[in-house]
Amino acid sequence: MSRLVVVSNRVALPGENRAGGMAICLLAALHARGGVWFGWSGKITSEPNGELHHQRTGNIRFVTTNLSQCDHDDYYNGFSNRTLWPLLHSRVDLVDCDRKSRDGYLRVNRMFAGKLAPLLRDNDTLWIHDYHLIPLASMLRELGIGCRIGFFLHVPMPSADLVQALPDHRRLICLLHACDLVGFQTQGDVERFRTYALLFGGCAEAGPTELRAADGHGFRIGAFPIGIDTELIAHQAAEATRKPVVRALGKSVMPRQLAIGVDRLDYSKGLPERFQSFQRYLERHPTRKGKLTFLQIAPLSRCEVTEYQTLRSQLEQIAGHLNGSHAEPDWTPLRYVNRNFTHDTLAGFYRMARVALVTPLRDGMNLVAKEFVAAQDGKNPGVLVLSAFAGAACEMKESLIVNPLDLDDVADAIATASDMPLGERVERWHVLINRLRENDTGKWQRGFLHALEAAGSPIPAPTSPRVVR
Ligand code: F6P
Repeated sequence: MSRLVVVSNRVALPGENRAGGMAICLLAALHARGGVWFGWSGKITSEPNGELHHQRTGNIRFVTTNLSQCDHDDYYNGFSNRTLWPLLHSRVDLVDCDRKSRDGYLRVNRMFAGKLAPLLRDNDTLWIHDYHLIPLASMLRELGIGCRIGFFLHVPMPSADLVQALPDHRRLICLLHACDLVGFQTQGDVERFRTYALLFGGCAEAGPTELRAADGHGFRIGAFPIGIDTELIAHQAAEATRKPVVRALGKSVMPRQLAIGVDRLDYSKGLPERFQSFQRYLERHPTRKGKLTFLQIAPLSRCEVTEYQTLRSQLEQIAGHLNGSHAEPDWTPLRYVNRNFTHDTLAGFYRMARVALVTPLRDGMNLVAKEFVAAQDGKNPGVLVLSAFAGAACEMKESLIVNPLDLDDVADAIATASDMPLGERVERWHVLINRLRENDTGKWQRGFLHALEAAGSPIPAPTSPRVVR
């Protein structure tokens, strides 16, 4: 078996407890077969050209580099999170077209390519993750790297019409054609990418899962929905009920029900609409007042980006207004907490909740939805209220699917979830958990890597070359 080399913007180094769902899945893939995880250390340094740091734990070698302040500003805060993130989440109104940050994005990708190339062997399997690193495969090819390269987009692929909001979009998106496999979360994402590649990328169809780029190079595309380790989360959740922080939450909520939301503080997560929906629930169902407490955990994220600062102020205002209007001397309807908790503590919180609100406006997958289900006690499970616009909705139809923009729809779903009889909760949960077990994180990584390793077989060349329009 070839050596696996994983590349992502941020590397979750051993001992760090801020690892989110994606980092946990990458670690699981590396644990399964050993290999190297390469990327940014998460640190900002004053040295202009940070050296590589090596660390080994078990069968995984972590190789990281720091970023300079300027690279961090242009590549991470700038082009990744002020241009690509809003574009890929269909918020073209927020797309920043700054050329300096675009140059910085290309500069950092080139720096990653330059540092990674000497570490690679011809028979490695290289797996690149997410929108921060769209040009990396192409830059590595320019440096003569011939090993198999796969790219996986964790966030949504928007429609071709929206991608046009990005200046010079062809030059960037077409760099993905240097890969052997480009993977997405859902079939919808695959179809949007295919349409873009045919309309704007100069590609031709070369089979049901294959495209041929303008230079004649064939590459594959496919949907590989990311999954979770259901057994691990179930175990963590059951164990966490003994943790003081989890017990304290339970004690403070009793005898009321708990509704929970856990999201990075990000405008794609639909948090203002969620708070307003909860307020609508209190207004539309006044007899239920005081029955359900809503805990929203929203760790701060990308704090140097203006749109995130604006969102934070907006949420503080809505939360204050909601509690001011509906709280009682002995009850606060919304608890809004801007800090992070360890993964196992969150699993314990999920197990305690009767309702989970996962209502993003756009989301590649959303692993909180899956983790909430996996954390439940099957004899008395909670109910998931899930946005139709999260990738997870494709696999989780037995949750209560809502339109997060329709406040009445979400408000009524909260009431339905809160009142749902035990028999129906158990029935829905069984279908969901069985599907999650089947489509777990192992299936995701094996599916992608098998497809990547099979992708080397040549696709017949076209008779005339295609031109990028
Ligand atoms: O899931 C999308 C993603 O951007 C990942 O690539 C990233 O690890 C995660 O969200 C957290 O984002 P950040 O690293 O910007 O805090």
